[in-house]
Amino acid sequence: TGMVALDPGFTNTASTTSEITYIDGEVGILRYRGYPIAELARSSTFTEVAYLLINGELPDAETFERFKRRIARHRLLHEDFRSFFTSFPSSGHPMAILQAGIAGLATYYEDTLNPHDPYERELATVLLLSKVPTMVSYIARRAIGLPLMYPDPRRGYVEDFLHMTFGMPYQSFDIDPSVIRALDMLLILHADHEQNCSTSTVRLVGSSDANMYASVAAGVGALSGPLHGGANEAVLRMLDRIQNDGMTTDEFVRKVKNKEDGVRLMGFGHRVYKSYDPRAALVKATAHDVLARLGSADGDRKLEIAMELEEVALNDEYFVSRNLYPNVDFYTGLIYQAMGFPTTMFTPLFALGRLPGWIAQYREMISDPAKRIGRPRQVYTGQIERHYVAMHRRE
Ligand code: CMC
Repeated sequence: TGMVALDPGFTNTASTTSEITYIDGEVGILRYRGYPIAELARSSTFTEVAYLLINGELPDAETFERFKRRIARHRLLHEDFRSFFTSFPSSGHPMAILQAGIAGLATYYEDTLNPHDPYERELATVLLLSKVPTMVSYIARRAIGLPLMYPDPRRGYVEDFLHMTFGMPYQSFDIDPSVIRALDMLLILHADHEQNCSTSTVRLVGSSDANMYASVAAGVGALSGPLHGGANEAVLRMLDRIQNDGMTTDEFVRKVKNKEDGVRLMGFGHRVYKSYDPRAALVKATAHDVLARLGSADGDRKLEIAMELEEVALNDEYFVSRNLYPNVDFYTGLIYQAMGFPTTMFTPLFALGRLPGWIAQYREMISDPAKRIGRPRQVYTGQIERHYVAMHRRE
């Protein structure tokens, strides 16, 4: 047997080179294509960041207009999808339905499946960016029986998504521009994070030359887990539990430290960040703003609990010695809830944000001259060799 290095969880194994996203976890730096995340969050838009991640450069005005127009034009979903979504139980988790819907796009756009054809690859990119927000909003509406709202290409990307999710056919859409801006910024913060679990999944699936829809759908599956994107939903359930059980934050933190029933402080800790997650700092500031504007008494109480948890944890030896800080998921749920999203839609919002990153990483992978199919090795620890025993002879 050849020498094989064992690295469970890939804590120390680089699977690729990449020019897309840079993280320095020791000091809490995150940059997309060299641009600091705080600058992009403050000054850019989600569509511009999508262009940047995918193409490597900020667009000039004309290029950006063309890019936006193309994405706006393809936002309609095939009418079949109206019944596609009703073939699932209405209580079915939106992440499961989203994964199926994205994989299903491959059946409608068969002339966009060849990842090595630049024209087809470009079209698949545009179709995914265009149709996923429509899909996410259809899933949200269908879960509660509200009429599905068609996209409107005259609206901006995030505004139209909010309109499809919260608008009504019989009234004009009146939404606070600061809410559009806040969601736009949150999507920017989620847009890429180098070789995390879902992105590595997208690359691994795509390394077999599987089409972009199949690869991104696999990424959605990876993202759904509570240790990854599912953490934003889990954080809100945790805050609910603390609030409803009348537990103090000290009591809850004690449970976490004693590892009672395997409870973790959700929204805390990160494989790469060993200091404050720079995204969490931006999200926390936004949570204050959005709740001040839209806040309900319930949301305010939950924000208080969250800040108390952070305070207790950041002063506790258990968390300090393990370098556990709030991550991007710790405060996002509070904002989504204040905006009116049901808890089960939180992780689909993460997926919507991560979409440009998955696409950019897929494209980088597929165009890499050094690309080979992803195929990890193993260290076998099972039986060496034994021989079949007939049923009647088995002890
Ligand atoms: N609460 C309590 N203890 C924790 C936590 C936590 N949230 N995170 C890590 N630990 C402890 C863990 O028990 C271990 O301690 P010990 O050595 O005594 O067993 C130590 O810290 C190292 O943890 P690990 O599980 O080896 O770390 P990892 O790098 O494998 O896992 C993580 C990273 C993000 C999965 C983990 O920190 C976690 O489960 N956090 C909660 C879930 C969460 O918020 N996930 C979102 C991550 S950020 C955005 C995203 O990717 O979606």
